[in-house]
Amino acid sequence: MAAIFSLLQVLLLVLALQHSAVATNCKERERHALLELKKGFKDPSKRLFSWEGQENCCMWEGVQCDNKTENVIGLDLRNTVSYYQEVGDLYIISSRLEGSLGGEISSSLIHLQHLKHLDLSGNYFLGETIPSFISQLKELRYLNLSRAGFKGTIPSCLGNLSSLQTLDLSNNGVYQYEPSHQWLSHLTSLRHLVVSGVTFSSNSSTSLVLALNKLPSLVEISLSDCMLESIPLFIPSLNFSFLSILDLSQNNISSFMPGWFFNLSRLEYLDLSSNDFHGRVSHNLANMTSLKSLNLGVNDFSEDAIPESIGSLCNLDTLDLSRWNIGKRFAEFGGVFSGCLRNSLTHLHLSSASLKGIIPDWIGDIKNLQVLDLSNNFLYGSVPSSLARLSSLQELILISNELNGTVPEEIGKLSELVNLNLAGNYLNVVLSETHFAELEKLEILFLSDNPLVFNVSSHWNPPFILKTLRISSCSLGPQFPTWLQTQHELHALDMSDVGIADTAPIWFWNLTTKLFSLDLSHNQIEGTIPKTLSFRDIFSVDLSSNLFSGTLPEFGSITRELDLSNNTFSGHIPANIGERMPYMFYLSVSTNKLSGRVPSSLCQMKGMGAVDLSKNQLSGELPDCWLNSSALQILDFSNNNVIGGIPESICDMPSLTSLHLSNNNLSGEFPVSLKKCCHAPATQPGPLTDRPHQTGWTPLGARPQI
Ligand SMILES: *[C@@H]1O[C@H](CO)[C@@H](O)[C@H](O)[C@H]1NC(C)=O
Ligand SMILES: *[C@@H]1O[C@H](CO)[C@@H](O)[C@H](O)[C@H]1NC(C)=O
Ligand SMILES: *[C@@H]1O[C@H](CO)[C@@H](O)[C@H](O)[C@H]1NC(C)=O
Ligand SMILES: *[C@@H]1O[C@H](CO)[C@@H](O)[C@H](O)[C@H]1NC(C)=O
Ligand SMILES: *[C@@H]1O[C@H](CO)[C@@H](O)[C@H](O)[C@H]1NC(C)=O
Ligand SMILES: *[C@@H]1O[C@H](CO)[C@@H](O)[C@H](O)[C@H]1NC(C)=O
Ligand SMILES: *[C@@H]1O[C@H](CO)[C@@H](O)[C@H](O)[C@H]1NC(C)=O
Ligand SMILES: *[C@@H]1O[C@H](CO)[C@@H](O)[C@H](O)[C@H]1NC(C)=O
Ligand SMILES: *[C@@H]1O[C@H](CO)[C@@H](O)[C@H](O)[C@H]1NC(C)=O
Ligand SMILES: *[C@@H]1O[C@H](CO)[C@@H](O)[C@H](O)[C@H]1NC(C)=O
Ligand SMILES: *[C@@H]1O[C@H](CO)[C@@H](O)[C@H](O)[C@H]1NC(C)=O
Ligand SMILES: *[C@@H]1O[C@H](CO)[C@@H](O)[C@H](O)[C@H]1NC(C)=O
Repeated sequence: MAAIFSLLQVLLLVLALQHSAVATNCKERERHALLELKKGFKDPSKRLFSWEGQENCCMWEGVQCDNKTENVIGLDLRNTVSYYQEVGDLYIISSRLEGSLGGEISSSLIHLQHLKHLDLSGNYFLGETIPSFISQLKELRYLNLSRAGFKGTIPSCLGNLSSLQTLDLSNNGVYQYEPSHQWLSHLTSLRHLVVSGVTFSSNSSTSLVLALNKLPSLVEISLSDCMLESIPLFIPSLNFSFLSILDLSQNNISSFMPGWFFNLSRLEYLDLSSNDFHGRVSHNLANMTSLKSLNLGVNDFSEDAIPESIGSLCNLDTLDLSRWNIGKRFAEFGGVFSGCLRNSLTHLHLSSASLKGIIPDWIGDIKNLQVLDLSNNFLYGSVPSSLARLSSLQELILISNELNGTVPEEIGKLSELVNLNLAGNYLNVVLSETHFAELEKLEILFLSDNPLVFNVSSHWNPPFILKTLRISSCSLGPQFPTWLQTQHELHALDMSDVGIADTAPIWFWNLTTKLFSLDLSHNQIEGTIPKTLSFRDIFSVDLSSNLFSGTLPEFGSITRELDLSNNTFSGHIPANIGERMPYMFYLSVSTNKLSGRVPSSLCQMKGMGAVDLSKNQLSGELPDCWLNSSALQILDFSNNNVIGGIPESICDMPSLTSLHLSNNNLSGEFPVSLKKCCHAPATQPGPLTDRPHQTGWTPLGARPQI
């Protein structure tokens, strides 16, 4: 082992020598500055392990030197570990701190006087302000501090960076209340300004835009989520000659669409979504012939139609008019989509737009469509078979309409389809293997809440490997679907109320280590659940209202919701349940055949919001350990055989709104502390239907705020 190790060392040395022969040697002063910088950083994952000793610092991780002058000109310490992963239709937060640098940024940075490129994005300098000494790096062209945990005001002296071409300060907790924004107008080389998530004082948006108008080279302005409330309607002398990207989404801008927008002749990307823009969309929109992407969704435009002028935007690939109150038949807009738009459009988002009538056949003529989102409208009739002509279609999202016709077998030919979402309609159809015949890329299949029958043979080997399957309230049973055996990448599985009356096969419990969410509730599934499960990462499990038996299964340590109610589980509640599943928020084992005591480790689940142990045969005294259960809102021990007094600590819980103890053998006096419970609203005893509101983690489908 030692021999191999030293051989490796020699090899590395040889490689390093060879490399440094062609590469440069860094300046001593700069090497020292980098070492000082490292001292200030917290680096738990040892990303900067190469930063040490007398080695040529040009070879260090993230350091780039100029070949000729041998100066450090680039420092790329971007952390690419994402905050949240998108898997299927779930968003999972991954650890913010993993792989990230923290601590402080040493002022020794200014000794890297020739630095042109500085990227500290994605790290976590919790609560640090953006260091003003960065403004002394006169040659800086690229500065990216996005998502790095900075707080406080943006130092105006950044305006001294006259060579700066790219400035990205987005998604920090920083603000800039300087009313005139003079500092910005000094950044005369600026091409990309990305300050989304920066708070500007709401009354200074006019001066902000006028300051930006002084910058001749601007290509990109991203001002999403900046708390802007207005925008100048008139700009005396419009520059913005090269502006290609304008993102003003997620502000609270209450305005007409200003006329100067239509003079931005090079604009390719315009996002005004989630504001309060009103009035009609000017027919001058047709002059913005460079537009590739137009998002006007979630505003208050008075338009009751899709503006005709959009039809002449021959480069438009993305159109989003979500949440427009169009209120007309979709079929009426054939004209808009008959021009060149028919060839250019790839993404069409018309969700929640009050569209009525049928999905017209001409939809199949928009032949390059990749994403079609018509969710939350009033569309009825069939899924048109002309859709089968959209050979590039990746996402078909028709959830929450009134579709009541057929689903053509031809959709099985959409071989690029990744996401098929027909949930929440009145589709009274039989889906067969043909409907899925060539869907090799399908990852998300969402059919819930339709009276449809899923009729495939028990030998079916589906062409796809799904990440999400949601098929609740469809008809899938009575046999347990054997084709699931091939679905070893599942992250979310909802097969509640699908009419399965069968034993869950052993292979199912070994299906995947990737499952985050499982719902098999309201079937008649029998069988015991093995002690060792492969569901390590699961955080939400609902097996309620089935015929499961045996002892209570234990799910992974990150389980947050566990509903095993209305089954025939027996035996004890494991004494260490609180240690095994410490992050539990909702636990129901109501209506089973559980016996033994209520374990005191329940109190160790610090974030617990609701516990329902009702309708079992639990005995012994209730544990008196609830002092630290500050999040607990609902506690139900009713219909058991518990004895003794009511524990003092129960009513010291500040959030408790509902306590059920009826039908037990409790005795003794009411504890004094119970008076504190009197402020709580009286609730009817019975099964828990309203789950308490949870804070501190991300529910399914909601994108976390960053
Ligand atoms: C510096 O050297 C690297 C490889 O040694 C080369 O790829 C790069 O183009 C050179 N840069 C300049 C500016 O000469
Ligand atoms: C800044 O870095 C992030 C990654 O952390 C990247 O997504 C973003 O595009 C960069 N911004 C610019 C303007 O290059
Ligand atoms: C630029 O730096 C000089 C000193 O180098 C300073 O006096 C001046 O205030 C700075 N300008 C801005 C806009 O911060
Ligand atoms: C603008 O808002 C800031 C606070 O956000 C306030 O201090 C200032 O007086 C306001 N200016 C005007 C002209 O209303
Ligand atoms: C337009 O940009 C030029 C620089 O190219 C600048 O001198 C001029 O003041 C700008 N116009 C306005 C109205 O800001
Ligand atoms: C948006 O602006 C309106 C007034 O125009 C105000 O009532 C509302 O509170 C603002 N919303 C936010 C989120 O700032
Ligand atoms: C927009 O362009 C038109 C025609 O080129 C011109 O007449 C008008 O003054 C311009 N508007 C602005 C706000 O620059
Ligand atoms: C849009 O184009 C038309 C003619 O093509 C022209 O008359 C009109 O002034 C233009 N509008 C703007 C705002 O440039
Ligand atoms: C579908 O719904 C529409 C509108 O409610 C109705 O006119 C039509 O008869 C329904 N079709 C079927 C097959 O139920
Ligand atoms: C399901 O498919 C089988 C074989 O293809 C067929 O015999 C049966 O009638 C189908 N059931 C329904 C409800 O369509
Ligand atoms: C299921 O997994 C467990 C542990 O990972 C293993 O011991 C068992 O043999 C597996 N069972 C089947 C049927 O694959
Ligand atoms: C309990 O489960 C059975 C089926 O196992 C079901 O019929 C019954 O409605 C369920 N009870 C409740 C309250 O959900």
